[in-house]
Amino acid sequence: YGAAQVLVASNRGPVSYAVGEDGSLNAKRGGGGLVSGLSAIGSDADALWVCSALSDGDREAVRRGVGEDGVRMLDIPADVHADAYNGIANSVLWFVHHMLYQTPLEPVFDAEFRRQWASYETYNRAFAEALAEEAAQGAAVVVQDYHLTLVPGMLRELRPDLRIGHFSHTPWAPPEYFRMLPDDVAGQVLRGMLGADRLGFLTQRWADAFAACAERFAGGSGHAGRGARAGADADFLRKRSHEPDVEERMAALREEIGEGRRTIVRVDRTELSKNIVRGLLAYRRLLETHAEWRERVVHVAFAYPSRQDLAVYRDYMAEVERLADEINAEYGTPGWTPVLLHLKDDFARSLAAYRLADVALVNPIRDGMNLVAKEVPVVSDAGCALVLSREAGAYEELGEDAITVNPYDVTATAVALHEALSMRPEERAERSKRLAAAATALPPAQWFVDQLEALRG
Ligand code: G6P
Repeated sequence: YGAAQVLVASNRGPVSYAVGEDGSLNAKRGGGGLVSGLSAIGSDADALWVCSALSDGDREAVRRGVGEDGVRMLDIPADVHADAYNGIANSVLWFVHHMLYQTPLEPVFDAEFRRQWASYETYNRAFAEALAEEAAQGAAVVVQDYHLTLVPGMLRELRPDLRIGHFSHTPWAPPEYFRMLPDDVAGQVLRGMLGADRLGFLTQRWADAFAACAERFAGGSGHAGRGARAGADADFLRKRSHEPDVEERMAALREEIGEGRRTIVRVDRTELSKNIVRGLLAYRRLLETHAEWRERVVHVAFAYPSRQDLAVYRDYMAEVERLADEINAEYGTPGWTPVLLHLKDDFARSLAAYRLADVALVNPIRDGMNLVAKEVPVVSDAGCALVLSREAGAYEELGEDAITVNPYDVTATAVALHEALSMRPEERAERSKRLAAAATALPPAQWFVDQLEALRG
């Protein structure tokens, strides 16, 4: 047996490498709840993070034996990874759990799908084998997300002594929708998950959906429950959002927005579940029906590239761009650009926009949690009104002080935007304060600590 007492498995790991011009490898560490969660476990636990090599630099690092203590990257063949990650995880499984398949966008279970599914099995097996090799007797393993649904079952067979958890950061589809998957695939996914001692979800709603699927299609509900809620990291955000690079970007944004205008801010990875297109349609409807806002409001929309290997994500990004241009052409004036769309990922600029936000727009079709909804109220200088989809996991905690919308209803979203823009400053500040308090009720690393405690329980 290996030596690791606590193991995490996820597709994306905490570090990535780029090959420099001189051939040297430069490491870049990612942030996020999982990273801080792991450091919260302390140094006494011998922790190991098993993840995929994703970039060319990552693969090179594995080949050269370069790496960080506590991280093991798996060099899964690029074509196998592409099938599993793009073909299965971010196409079929992502689309099922976010309920994105709607005519005419339908799943195709053809020979290509079958090949991709075989790759998904291979990719999951690579994780299960690495974990089995590295884990000490009786160690705790927490497997993350829809990429790795088969790992708990596979690992249980290899190492019955381990305590195995699985945590989903996405919604889970209700049975009527989940059954769209081919029966054998649905069964494998559910039985794979049920190999875990403990299944964690971000809200009770997703946990119940899993249990219903497991009961109907796999004859058991497992120990599915809501894990800890994921909170925003107030200390980090408040400090980081006052650093010089953020201040600089605020000045630039202010210039772009123009004097005395309100701002509606959204920040997303660009993908269909985020519902950016309907957000823009709602904004257009607002300008159409409430002419008094013309010249007086700017929609700051940051839509960062995500999963661009897949045509459906690229097409969506193009659609977002096209629509923003259209609105600007339709309503823009020499001194006023109604939509400020930025497509290049820039964390400092996101924080600058958070600080300037009068209104935050978070309208996903479905979302496991959505941290933007939690972060903007914490960061915004004058307090912001939150327009929030009732289909986001964050709705459970923030619903009371947000203006909630049905994400499909563009007209209602336009009305909500008007209401948010019209809110009295005192009310807005009060609500924003309560939103921030709810968003930071738990320390950010808590959900991970809770995963481990539930396993030990
Ligand atoms: C979702 C998933 C994460 C994933 C993230 C970014 O939030 O739950 O597991 O890492 O999206 O997506 P990417 O495909 O870039 O890893």
